[in-house]
Amino acid sequence: DPAVRINPSILAADFVNMQAELQRIAAADFVHVDVMDNHFVPNLTFGPQMVERIHATSPVPLDVHLMIDDVDRWAPGYAEIGAASVTFHAEATSEPVALARRLRSLGARAGIALKPATPVEPLFDVLDEFDQILVMTVEPGFGGQSFMADMMPKLRLLADECHRRGSAVWLQVDGGISPSTIEQAAAAGADTFVAGSAVFGADDPEAAIVSLRSLGAH
Ligand code: DX5
Ligand code: ZN
Repeated sequence: DPAVRINPSILAADFVNMQAELQRIAAADFVHVDVMDNHFVPNLTFGPQMVERIHATSPVPLDVHLMIDDVDRWAPGYAEIGAASVTFHAEATSEPVALARRLRSLGARAGIALKPATPVEPLFDVLDEFDQILVMTVEPGFGGQSFMADMMPKLRLLADECHRRGSAVWLQVDGGISPSTIEQAAAAGADTFVAGSAVFGADDPEAAIVSLRSLGAH
């Protein structure tokens, strides 16, 4: 799958003008929706009721990133709302495969995310259970942080293993992705790029998406 996907994060959008903000990123592949619970991370965003309205309003399918605890309880609801993908953190469940299967049975792509300190090797034997794997390139919780280039060896290790096993899983990066960092993430094997401030902070978000998509191709 040689495609490059650019998923703007609405964490960097104006929350009280969400309908207009979603129109500004109509050229995106997915809208990245950061759900935070003030517990798994020290920040709070929105929950299912807001995400359902975003889904109803967005011209682009939703890529939901859950930075919450109790994912076994809460993640299926986001698939039921109609999110195209639902990504939960590996650190938030002891039954990642069962949860991924449940998400798929509800029609969503199943994603698993890794905080910077979480090793990737335990996923190698269960790659086929997931549709996407998110290697965080910042500590989750806030937009506008600096890209952690020291995550590139972990990403490359994962990409090499996926290649070795013929896996079609999408490899996503999130945190500090900009025109000056996306190429190293692409070179390390990422094909799906979340960008918050780099898109919504641009004068022309659509041009920023087009430019990131071309820089992310390798
Ligand atoms: C961070 C979130 C990211 C965030 C990225 O916890 O998961 O999706 O919005 O923002 P930027 O692109 O500004 O680093
Ligand atoms: Zn995110």
